[in-house]
Amino acid sequence: MKEKYYITTPIYYPSGNWHIGHCYTTVICDTFARYNKMLGKDVFFLTGTDEHGQKVEKKAAEAGVTPIQFIDPLVAGLKEIWSLLDIGYDKFIRTTDEQHVKAIQTIFKQLYDKGEIYKAEYSGWYCTPCESFWTESQLKDGKCPDCGREVTLEKEESYFFRLSKYADKILKLYEDNPEFLQPKSRMNEMINNFLKPGLQDLCVSRTSIKWGIPVTFDPKHTVYVWVDALSNYISALGYGSEDDSLFRRYWPADLHMVGKEIVRFHAIIWPAILMALGLPLPKQVYGHGWLLIGGDKLSKSKEGNVKAELTDPKQLVERYGSDALRYFLLREIPFGSDGVYTNESLLNRINSDLANDLGNLVSRTTAMINQYFGGILPAAGDKEAVDGELVAMAENLHDNVKKAMDALDCPLALTEIFKVVQRANKYIDETTPWILAKDESKKGRLATVLYNLAETIRIVAVYLKPYITKAPDKILDCFGIDGKSVTDFESANKFGVLQAGTAVKKAPPIFPRIDVKKELAEVEAMVKKAHQEKKEAKAPEAAPVKAHEPAPAKEQIDFDTFSKVELKVALVTACEKVEKSKKLLKLTVKIGEETRTVVSGIAMAYTPEEMVGKKIVMVTNLKPAKLCGIVSEGMIVCAENDKGEISLIRPEKDMEDGSNIF
Ligand code: MSP
Repeated sequence: MKEKYYITTPIYYPSGNWHIGHCYTTVICDTFARYNKMLGKDVFFLTGTDEHGQKVEKKAAEAGVTPIQFIDPLVAGLKEIWSLLDIGYDKFIRTTDEQHVKAIQTIFKQLYDKGEIYKAEYSGWYCTPCESFWTESQLKDGKCPDCGREVTLEKEESYFFRLSKYADKILKLYEDNPEFLQPKSRMNEMINNFLKPGLQDLCVSRTSIKWGIPVTFDPKHTVYVWVDALSNYISALGYGSEDDSLFRRYWPADLHMVGKEIVRFHAIIWPAILMALGLPLPKQVYGHGWLLIGGDKLSKSKEGNVKAELTDPKQLVERYGSDALRYFLLREIPFGSDGVYTNESLLNRINSDLANDLGNLVSRTTAMINQYFGGILPAAGDKEAVDGELVAMAENLHDNVKKAMDALDCPLALTEIFKVVQRANKYIDETTPWILAKDESKKGRLATVLYNLAETIRIVAVYLKPYITKAPDKILDCFGIDGKSVTDFESANKFGVLQAGTAVKKAPPIFPRIDVKKELAEVEAMVKKAHQEKKEAKAPEAAPVKAHEPAPAKEQIDFDTFSKVELKVALVTACEKVEKSKKLLKLTVKIGEETRTVVSGIAMAYTPEEMVGKKIVMVTNLKPAKLCGIVSEGMIVCAENDKGEISLIRPEKDMEDGSNIF
C-alpha cells in the first residue's frame, strides 16, 4: 500500500482583493503535494475558504446582500486564481458547506458532552459601531483598535473550551516531537509567549454574531471562528459524517502549512481540541514568513492600500505566466523568513534564472543538436574530464533536492537545481561546441557534449516539475518525452537514460527576456491609474458617510506638530458643482498672490452662488489629492455637528486673503 501524505493550506477569509501574498502558502503546498506524488505517495491536498464571522456579516449588510451572495463571487475569484496557477488541490472546502456545518455541530456537541466545553459569561470591551469585542490587550490606548472610538465593558453569555488545562500537555508534545512545529524559532515563541505564562480558556461561541454555525443544543449561540475554521481539516475528510473513509485514510495531517501569524491557533489551540476529542494530532505545523511589500505585509488590514507594485495574481499571470510567478514565490523568499516583493525583484528573477539560465540552456542545446546533427540526438563518444563534473552534479541532484525538500526548503531545492543549470551553461562555454563542429575529427567529442547537455536538461526538467508546471513539459517535449507520463522522482536518478537516435525539436521560446525598465514603467503607470480610479470611485461617497459619525478623540500633539499646519485666509473667486457628485464643490480661491483649485465636500450645505465672494479658512500646505479627477490643492476648514450639519469657519473681521492663521 502507498504511504499517504495529507497536506493543508489555511482556509482563506473571503477577500475582494486577492493578492500575491495570498498565493504564497498555496503555491508552496501545491509544490509539496506534487513532489510527494512524484515520490509515489497517496497525496491529499486540501484548501478552501473560511466564510463565517462578523466581518462578512457586516460587509454583506453594507453591500445590501446576504452573506452568501457576498461571498460566492469572492470564492469564485479565488478558485480562478488557483486554476491560473495550476493549483491541483484534491478538495476545496467552504465552511458554509453542509458537510462542514454538520461536522462542526457534531464536534461542538462531542466536546460539550465530554465536559471540555462549559457555559459562562464572556466579558470584553465592546465597540458599538464596529460591533466587536476586544480583550484588554487588544485595545489601543484604551480605545477600539479598528476605529479608535470609546469602548464599553460588556458581558455576553458564551461557551468556553477548557484550553487552560492543555498547556502542559502541549509542552510535552513539543518536547517529545521537536519536529512538530517548524521552524524552531516558532516553537520557542509559542513556549515562551503562550505556554509557559499559562493558557486561558477559550471563548468558542457568541450570541451577538448571527453569521455562524448554530450550536444545536443552544441555538442562540453560534460557534465562534477558530473551532469552526480549524476543524475544516477533519470535516473535509468526512469526520462525523456517514462516510468517513477519507478521514480514516488520511488523518492525521502530515503537514499544516500556515503563515506565522496563525501558528498559535495551529500549534496550540488545534492540538488541544484534537486531544479533547481523543483524535490523533497532525504530524507537523510549519509557520512560514510573509511576503512584504514596501515593508508591509500584504494583509487583510492593508487590503486596498498597496503601493505602486503589481500584486494582482491574475494580472501577474497574464503578463508573465504562471511558471514565473510560482518560481518567484518558491525561490525568492528564504523559507521561514519574510521576503520583500517588488515588481523589479520578480522581473529580475524571471530574466536571470528562467530566461538567461534555463531558457538559454535549452534553446542553445536543442538548436545545436538540430544544426550539427540534423535534430537527431547523437550517442556519446569521446569523454573528457570536464564531463565528469557536470554528470556528477546532475547525478547528485536527486539527493540534494530530496534533502532540501525533507527540510521543507523549496528555495534551497531550486537553488540546487539551478546550480546544475548554471554548470551546464558553463560547460557549453568550456567545451565550445561551435568550434568542435568545425573539425570533423572532433565529431565524437561534439556528440558527447551535446548528449551530456541533453541528458542534464532532461534531469533538470523532471526535478522542476513540482515547482513550475508548464515549462518542464515543454522542455521534455523537445526530447520526445511526454511530460505527463513522467510521474516518478526516481526517473531522473540515473544519467544516460535518453536514447541516441531520439528526434530533438528546437525549443520554442520558453521564457522570453523582459525589458525590465520598459516593463516597470508600464506596470507602475498601470497600477497608479488603477489606484486613482478606485480612489475616485470612492471619494465622493466616503467622506460624507464618515462625517455623520462622531469623530474619535484624537491624541494630544505638541505645539511644534501643530505649527506644521499652514492655515490662511482665502477668497472664493469662482465655484461650481462637481459633475456626478452630490457632495463636492470645485472652488477657485485667491490666497494673496496665489490662485488655487480646491475640491470640498460642502455641496449639501452651500450652493456655488453662496460661496463666491466669501472669505474662508484653508489648510494650504496639505499634499494635493485628486477627487473625481480634479486635483485639490488644499482643504477648506469647516465645523460639523453630530447631525452632520456643516458650517464654514470664517474670520470674524474682514481680513485680506493670504493672511496667516495661528
Ligand atoms: N482564515 C484564517 C485561517 C484559518 S485556518 C484554519 C486566515 N485567513 S487569511 O486569508 O487571512 O490568510 C490565509 C493565509 O494566507 C495565511 O497562511 C496567511 O499567512 C497567508 N497570507 C496572507 N497574506 C500574506 C502575505 N503577504 N505573505 C505570506 N502569506 C500571507 O488567516
